[in-house]
Amino acid sequence: MTVENDVSVQDLADRLPRSFTLGVAAAAFQIEGSLSADGRGPSGWDAFAEKPGAIIDGHSPAVACDHYNRSPEDVALMRDLGVDSYRFSISWPRIQPDGRGAFNKQGLDFYDRLIDQLLEAGISPMATLYHWDTPLPLEHRGGWMSRATAERFAEYAGEAGRRFGDRVDQWVTLNEPASVVLNGYALGVHAPGRDLLFDAFPAVHNQLLAHGMAVQALRAAGVRGGIGVTNLHSPVRPATRKITDKYIALVFDLMLNRIYADPVLLGQYPRPPLIAKPWFRSFGRIPDADLRTIHQPLDFYGVNYYYPTKVAAGRGPAESPTGPAEAMVRVPFHQEPFPEYGTTGFGWPVAPEHLGILLRELKDRYKGDLPPLYITESGASFPEPDHVSGPIQDLGRINYIADHLRHALEATAPGGIAHDVDLRGYYVWTLMDNFEWAAGYSQRFGLVHVDFDTLERTPKESFYWYRALSQARTSLA
Ligand code: NOJ
Repeated sequence: MTVENDVSVQDLADRLPRSFTLGVAAAAFQIEGSLSADGRGPSGWDAFAEKPGAIIDGHSPAVACDHYNRSPEDVALMRDLGVDSYRFSISWPRIQPDGRGAFNKQGLDFYDRLIDQLLEAGISPMATLYHWDTPLPLEHRGGWMSRATAERFAEYAGEAGRRFGDRVDQWVTLNEPASVVLNGYALGVHAPGRDLLFDAFPAVHNQLLAHGMAVQALRAAGVRGGIGVTNLHSPVRPATRKITDKYIALVFDLMLNRIYADPVLLGQYPRPPLIAKPWFRSFGRIPDADLRTIHQPLDFYGVNYYYPTKVAAGRGPAESPTGPAEAMVRVPFHQEPFPEYGTTGFGWPVAPEHLGILLRELKDRYKGDLPPLYITESGASFPEPDHVSGPIQDLGRINYIADHLRHALEATAPGGIAHDVDLRGYYVWTLMDNFEWAAGYSQRFGLVHVDFDTLERTPKESFYWYRALSQARTSLA
């Protein structure tokens, strides 16, 4: 099969290094449903989703894809897809309902079964410990604004390590702490719905601490798999070469990307330019011991890439802030579109070459401190029907994945702009349409269509395309 941009499946498969991992990713809260089954405790997201207006059209996460009851069917789908690895998340409130103290046997059993089903299907488990579902009792005690949450997280991580450490191949401590801080604590559009703006900085630090402490707990538990963390990376581009635009881009890059990556990879926070100082105001001096805890040796680093961000100094078309970025910095600036790129269902620019450039930039910044990389999420939503009667022709998604994968492979191949980056794998977000946080079921990112009335799963054309890619690779001599 040839996709619109003429990159044939075989051509792409030929570029895949031998041991390159092709995977799919998902997250517990977005697919499982069964929010009070078998002793699961409530999470901050359970509570947030009940607030009027929090989720588009009042969509409920109560059932989602019903994966909790259908995991064998979903693992069978992945076996059919032919992926090497599945990145899933463990729901903290399902295995430790209060976020402290007793663990829930039935919750642990669910992930035991899931991991065993994956191994039986020849699929390597990559387990994320935190994909945004904080146990509600901890949220009530301040959530990530409280240092104690980091300590609780390490206890949970240790138990997960002891219980699953013999079979999980890769551990991801946190998923996108940047999204949790910006959307959840600074702007209030995700759980826990707090709008602290600049005062949200402790939620940065406590999550990073939680990461470091969890790495230590997993190592102490003797897990045999690799350990890493997943950060969102949205490369920031100045709208022009003007010094003011470049300055704003620097500040925004710091707030969005470097504040999360630098402490983990370099053991220090980036030094804030003057206008970003308010961000640090709410925390005060950071103890060296904390930075040492955060700066753990990692087996890999996970990058979630969706799109680049373009910023310019000066007022945007509207007088008032138009998005998260504008609300976070008290100087006039705005985001600009990329007119040269098409957009996804979310309106995000489709800019695959920026993935290759991002890989180069990561190497430039972190040099020998950059561990092997995985693209732990890459994918796109497009407007698609709620009900289907067969595979839909989601060419936009096929092109998106083919182009992003191709740019990542070209960049990291010998002679490529990021040839010295050790890229080990690529995970498509996501296996099946699911609960897209505040956007509910309105954004479909899946390789598999889900009918949210019947819960029927129907592979899309992109599923067959990704399968063909995987097969073309295995047929290589
Ligand atoms: C990143 C998040 O990790 C994931 O949960 C979300 O669904 C995707 N972005 C798409 O928005």
